[in-house]
Amino acid sequence: MTFTVARRTAVTAVTTALALAGLVASVAPAATATPQVSPPRAPAAQALAAPDIPIANVKAHLTQFQAIAGANGGNRAHGRPGYRASIDYVKGKLDAAGYTTSLQQFTTSGAIGWNLIAEWPGGDAGQVLMAGAHLDGVSSGAGINDNASGSSAVLETALAVSRAQLRPTKKLRFAWWGAEELGLVGSRYYVNNLPAAERAKLTGYLNFDMIGSPNPGYFVYDDVPALEKVFKDYFTGLGVATEIETEGDGRSDHAPFKAVGVPVGGLFTGASRAKTAAQAQKWGGTAGQAFDRCYHSSCDTTANISDTALDRNSDAVAHAVWTLGTAPTVPPGDTYENAADVAIPDGGAAVTSSITISGRTGNAPPTLAVGVDIKHTWRGDVVIDLVAPDGSVYRLKNSSANDSADNIIATFPVDASSEPANGEWKLRVQDVVAQDSGFIDSWKLTF
Ligand code: TRP
Ligand code: ZN
Ligand code: CA
Repeated sequence: MTFTVARRTAVTAVTTALALAGLVASVAPAATATPQVSPPRAPAAQALAAPDIPIANVKAHLTQFQAIAGANGGNRAHGRPGYRASIDYVKGKLDAAGYTTSLQQFTTSGAIGWNLIAEWPGGDAGQVLMAGAHLDGVSSGAGINDNASGSSAVLETALAVSRAQLRPTKKLRFAWWGAEELGLVGSRYYVNNLPAAERAKLTGYLNFDMIGSPNPGYFVYDDVPALEKVFKDYFTGLGVATEIETEGDGRSDHAPFKAVGVPVGGLFTGASRAKTAAQAQKWGGTAGQAFDRCYHSSCDTTANISDTALDRNSDAVAHAVWTLGTAPTVPPGDTYENAADVAIPDGGAAVTSSITISGRTGNAPPTLAVGVDIKHTWRGDVVIDLVAPDGSVYRLKNSSANDSADNIIATFPVDASSEPANGEWKLRVQDVVAQDSGFIDSWKLTF
């Protein structure tokens, strides 16, 4: 007992010194690389409404892909000339429309393949919305429903962005993947080679693989509710029922994105599974027959398309890109961090870590974000306050007897609008129960 008290006292003295050292250190604004998941600030401007995507344009692309297959041995498969010709076709349209395009080369199954990436100028480079489709087909046919349909809808949406000279809030990035049919090779290559800082900028990836099945269903990926809702709302507006996509989750290019935590969504009209009687009731078509009887076969031609399904889904692609891509975004705030460690004495006195703000004008925002990273066993022991420059105290967290979990890594919103921004802000942390202890690893203020 005596030992504990003595040790606690000694540690307190040292940590106070450390805290003061942290306090004195000048803290520069850090770039906020991680997009904040928070609702837009009121008053929110509105997302823009998408134009109708002309089905004739989408079908004209299908005709071109059919011709490309015809001129190249009947397919557009990875490692075959029809794939490269497909890339050249899409890239040519995008380049002419003002996109910045790039080819990402990879090798698989002994052949070179490419992903085609296209970015539209403007938008917040820190908040990227991606939409994509696989451009390769199987070797047995032209691959028109699978997946010239998705490729063409994404292409025509990108061209509509150009026709509208859209000024999105987000950075729009479109992708056409190679070697999906060999096991999501191109999209996986892309994700694996995207640095973590770039991944963190992805607000969503929308995938379109088989969206014109001749006996169509209207399936929406249910991975991320906010993205699912954008599609479902569109179909509700058309009076078309949708179902959750279940014919093989993870069987397309959204899977590598989902695996690293990127929010994903997408559309699908069905492959080899048979349409049920209930589905034929609500969507029409033929019960007991596959959504796509030509799935992965030579009859997957321009005749293997439901124009109605392709039309609705192409419009839904544009709806999602416009809705998500022009939604008001929260401007990235200035973040100030103090990452100096401060030990928290067990059952002892409060310690503080300071951040001194200068050069701002006016008061702190009503949504001052206080990011806290405290390493501490049995975190229920810990009480946390934010102390404003004038000494006003904002309680962030109380102690609780039964919260036995480790660590407090959280962001606490504080209405600090009555406090001038400039001055010395303190995070005050106290461990009020003997036994477990820890330290302030870092904390930050985002204005
Ligand atoms: N290209 C996919 C494949 O060959 C088609 C597919 C099957 C699919 N099930 C899916 C696409 C579910 C999206 C969602 O496997
Ligand atoms: Zn496919
Ligand atoms: Ca304790």
